[in-house]
Amino acid sequence: MTRATSHLLFILLLVVGVAAAGAHDDAAVRRTLEEFAGFPASDDGEGPSAAFRVDAEGLQRQIDELASFSDSPAPSVTRVLYSDKDVQARRYIKGIMNQLGLAVREDAVGNIFGRWEGSEAELGAVGTGSHVDAIPFSGKYDGVVGVLGALEAISLLKRSGFQPKRSLEVIMFTSEEPTRFGISCLGSRLMAGIEELTQSLRNVVDNQNVSFLDAAESAGYKMDPEDLRSVFLNKDSYSAFVELHIEQGPILEKEGIPIGIVTAIAAPASITVEFEGNGGHAGAVLMPARNDAGLAAAELALAVEKHVLESGSIDTVGTVGILQLHPGAINSIPSKSHLEIDVRDIDEKRRNDVIEKVRRSATEISKNRGVVLSEFKIINQDPPALSGKSVVDAMEFAAKQLNLEYKKMISRAYHDSLFMARVSPMGMIFIPCYKGYSHKPKEYASPEDMSNGVKVLALTMAKLSLD
Ligand code: GLV
Ligand code: MN
Ligand code: MN
Repeated sequence: MTRATSHLLFILLLVVGVAAAGAHDDAAVRRTLEEFAGFPASDDGEGPSAAFRVDAEGLQRQIDELASFSDSPAPSVTRVLYSDKDVQARRYIKGIMNQLGLAVREDAVGNIFGRWEGSEAELGAVGTGSHVDAIPFSGKYDGVVGVLGALEAISLLKRSGFQPKRSLEVIMFTSEEPTRFGISCLGSRLMAGIEELTQSLRNVVDNQNVSFLDAAESAGYKMDPEDLRSVFLNKDSYSAFVELHIEQGPILEKEGIPIGIVTAIAAPASITVEFEGNGGHAGAVLMPARNDAGLAAAELALAVEKHVLESGSIDTVGTVGILQLHPGAINSIPSKSHLEIDVRDIDEKRRNDVIEKVRRSATEISKNRGVVLSEFKIINQDPPALSGKSVVDAMEFAAKQLNLEYKKMISRAYHDSLFMARVSPMGMIFIPCYKGYSHKPKEYASPEDMSNGVKVLALTMAKLSLD
């Protein structure tokens, strides 16, 4: 038997076992298997296939343990880049990677890679992974399912006796969330080779005036600014990248569909705005004499909503998630305001039109209210990303073999996959998220849905590894 044939036989056995275990062992599945494998499917449910079971309890236990590294009380999770809790979470992930026998490395900014070397290690690897940083007061599944779930998928393939041809690699990306430095997908953005980011990371500070480089050093990642470029990936490092993630919206749960196959990721943008006025005493300065930076911010927040709704598309969304007033006293007219605005759309031009309207409104409001528009800064204005056909095909193949209903869908949230798409064909597997809750303590994914996601991921990676 040639190596390729034995690989195909492995997937076949894997899938036959799964189909049998799921009591879906029907003729249609058999036919698909035979078409894929090119030879008759075996009736034998023994061998590697018998071990194709997700350790759902173990995965849940790991998710719960990871959630305990948090700067806010349970059930909420707060884990911010390079904080002590983030460092503890990193140690935890590296520990599991080591236990699984993966070769672990970290790059200059702390993207963590766990590699299972394939028989043809010189070929581009199949990558998977996500993030474990968590925005303030969020839940325990966002990103985490894509890291711990990917490690369980690797473990499952190992337990099943799978031998990868292309190496399989799990990545824990640094700072998908923009919480600390305002830069989303920091690790994957840098991996994608975005030159300007190496400049902004030299100068950026957090709200305590701690620089990115100092924060990184405090977490054990001491670097020269020149080292930032070493994070860039070679274009042929990965033949495919596939990320498992909770949907974060309500569609899969509402429609009762266990798997989402992402065909595109919407285009995100973020903007910071600052207004400055004279401030003054809340009792003594009469209304006609005021130039209130707080009211300018309030008016701009409403303008964001108006411009988003004017787009006429349900796909355009805008959020003012941060609004800070200075000096922040009940009896003091705000002399400074700071807003952070998030605008997204699957249509990049429509998203950009909204940004332009928001810019015009900011200028008008500052004139009308006699405040200074001291900053209007577009932090990022990213294009959308399309999934790669090869990855979508592999995900569909996997879902079909597992007899899992799936829906092709767009990701409205952004993910590290948005940037991995620049260096590799990309795809994402979504699983339902209870009531669509995400970025909230109530965020929940069921063990059964996570197991399904892990199985689809494992089979997708197995297939892509043999391509
Ligand atoms: C990621 O967390 C996003 O905001 O889409
Ligand atoms: Mn998130
Ligand atoms: Mn996420």
